[in-house]
Amino acid sequence: MTQEMDLNQRFEDYIAADQKIEAKDWMPDAYRKTLIRQISQHAHSEIIGMQPEGNWITRAPSLKRKSILLAKVQDEAGHGLYLYSAAETLGITRDEMLDALHTGKAKYSSIFNYPTLTWADMGAVGWLVDGAAIMNQVPLCKCSYGPYARAMVRVCKEESFHQRQGFQVMLNLSNGTAEQKAMAQDALNRWWWPSLMMFGPNDASSKHSEQSMRWKIKRFSNDELRQRFVDMTVPQAELLGLSVPDPALKWNEETGHYDFGPIDWSEFEQVISGNGPCNRERIAHRVNAHNEGAWVREAAAAHAAKVAARADQQTHAA
Ligand SMILES: [Fe+2]
Ligand SMILES: [Fe+2]
Repeated sequence: MTQEMDLNQRFEDYIAADQKIEAKDWMPDAYRKTLIRQISQHAHSEIIGMQPEGNWITRAPSLKRKSILLAKVQDEAGHGLYLYSAAETLGITRDEMLDALHTGKAKYSSIFNYPTLTWADMGAVGWLVDGAAIMNQVPLCKCSYGPYARAMVRVCKEESFHQRQGFQVMLNLSNGTAEQKAMAQDALNRWWWPSLMMFGPNDASSKHSEQSMRWKIKRFSNDELRQRFVDMTVPQAELLGLSVPDPALKWNEETGHYDFGPIDWSEFEQVISGNGPCNRERIAHRVNAHNEGAWVREAAAAHAAKVAARADQQTHAA
């Protein structure tokens, strides 16, 4: 009991001193559980997020755009890999995490349950969705759990490339023909509100936020990050000559921020609970990809076993 108290005190001291908690350090069960939930959800979002964009790789308008999009989607697979590895340091296996995703027990970002209908959606997704992801993830580089924080450093660098390539697509379309500009506007109309939802529920109704802030997993509240995103993005929309689909959007001289209209949280609830436009399709596709990749995992495991056996033989022979 006293030993537990000492360990807990040491943990609290580390947090207070902004020291990183590492995989082998003692940590409260609830801290471990919270991290497993958050990091695995994050990993799932990265790999499910490959689907809406993968949808356009074969239809990109030029070779250059195709290679940029391909690189971006591959980056997302890499992000999934770093994050699954970070979560594994907390004592959960990759199989357990994937199983939770495939059976619908685990959540992932609701944004990836919306369809990508036109090429302009590749612009809007990069600009808005990756833009919102950066806003959420930059503070995670300072998260109290070391393996998560370090994974985020590289992820954030890549996200900023994703955001720029998306903005570039939007810029080209906005400067193009009337039809192209209309396509860009339509994509903004569809992606704006779901992007604001990416920051999660309002602070007053966010059930995990307060504890996560105390543990320094989260550094800013959902509403603070959402406001920053709006403040950053509205001038970019103006630069594109596109209008943000919110009649209540207005610069507030007094607060120095944009005021914006209410978010339709019932839509968010619907999508997060499995009833968005593409939830079933995304999971079915993921399960199928997993099953079809079984032979790759088996071959890799067989190869690893051979290498280990050979190394073992050599040690005994020596
Ligand atoms: Fe990513
Ligand atoms: Fe990204």
